[in-house]
Amino acid sequence: MSDALNTQAAQLADEAAAALLATTGEADLANAKARYLGKQGSITALLKQIPTLEPDDRRNAGRAVNEAKRAVEAVFAQRRESLKDAALSAGGDGPVDVTLPGRSGWRGHEHPVTLAWDAICDIFSSMGFTIHEGPQVETEWHNFEALNIPAGHPAREMQDTFYIEDGVVLRTHTSPVQIRTMLQHEPPLRMICPGPVYRKDNDLTHTPMFHQVEGLVVDRNTTMAELKGVLAEFARAFFGPGTEVRFRPSYFPFTEPSAEVDVSCVFCSGSGCRVCSNTGWLEVLGSGMVDPEVFRAIGGDAFDPDEVQGFAFGMGIDRLAMLRYGIPDLRMLFENDVRLLAQF
Ligand code: DAH
Repeated sequence: MSDALNTQAAQLADEAAAALLATTGEADLANAKARYLGKQGSITALLKQIPTLEPDDRRNAGRAVNEAKRAVEAVFAQRRESLKDAALSAGGDGPVDVTLPGRSGWRGHEHPVTLAWDAICDIFSSMGFTIHEGPQVETEWHNFEALNIPAGHPAREMQDTFYIEDGVVLRTHTSPVQIRTMLQHEPPLRMICPGPVYRKDNDLTHTPMFHQVEGLVVDRNTTMAELKGVLAEFARAFFGPGTEVRFRPSYFPFTEPSAEVDVSCVFCSGSGCRVCSNTGWLEVLGSGMVDPEVFRAIGGDAFDPDEVQGFAFGMGIDRLAMLRYGIPDLRMLFENDVRLLAQF
């Protein structure tokens, strides 16, 4: 009796394996499994017969039927995996095109203002300038008075300046960092300070926050000629070697004499276009020799205006970035549209 069961178990195992391997899908596979191992399955039926056997035969038959059962379960598991793999690579309606490029992740890009900022720092560093930073919340004294902008000066009127509280403002330019640097370091000084500045201004060409970089040189024999040389060198390094530079007399409270600096238009090379309003020139920065009043505000022998001279300059990083990268609208710099950023 047990021999018959053994043979039957082995036969059923072979038959089940063949049936399972012949299945073509999940449901098909589940049905085949049920036919052999389910409640009404033929291998299950053999297992049910075991208790009816003579005690001596039970162990023998039990081992044979359980072996058959395990073998069928193993084939089932193997078939389930290979059907799953086949379904995956069949992917929906048809086979997967393995030659298609994979999906790559998003790559970050540096913002054009950051790129311009870094380029400016590199150029001035190579000319021996150190880089400083100052607070964005500033006292009126550092932002105005020490820079020879007395109370009542138009630049101090409420419509231009964000006041935090009496005597405290959001800095309206990076020039106060000149003051802070001179209060901490004695000449000779060669420094620049890039950073955000704030003004109550919001239209096509102004944003309430923008970026400036200020420069300051203080030494015993600093001249307007050195100022011109440094700024011309900067303009050529930043906009390209063919860039022309012109200095126009101007006025700033903290410099005397003062000059505004134009570069030949980077779009039309000076022949005249919409960007330069057909003048061939673009105004890019303000500059001048440090007014002795500024040294007097610092005080002390080290900044005695009879002993030292200096020059200073200031420019808008956002505008420089627009000109260098050909960005037509200031607002594009603040929208953070990845389609713009991805170009850099
Ligand atoms: N602080 C000026 C501004 O915000 C820019 C400037 C002009 C800075 C001339 C200077 C300078 O140091 O010499 O508009």
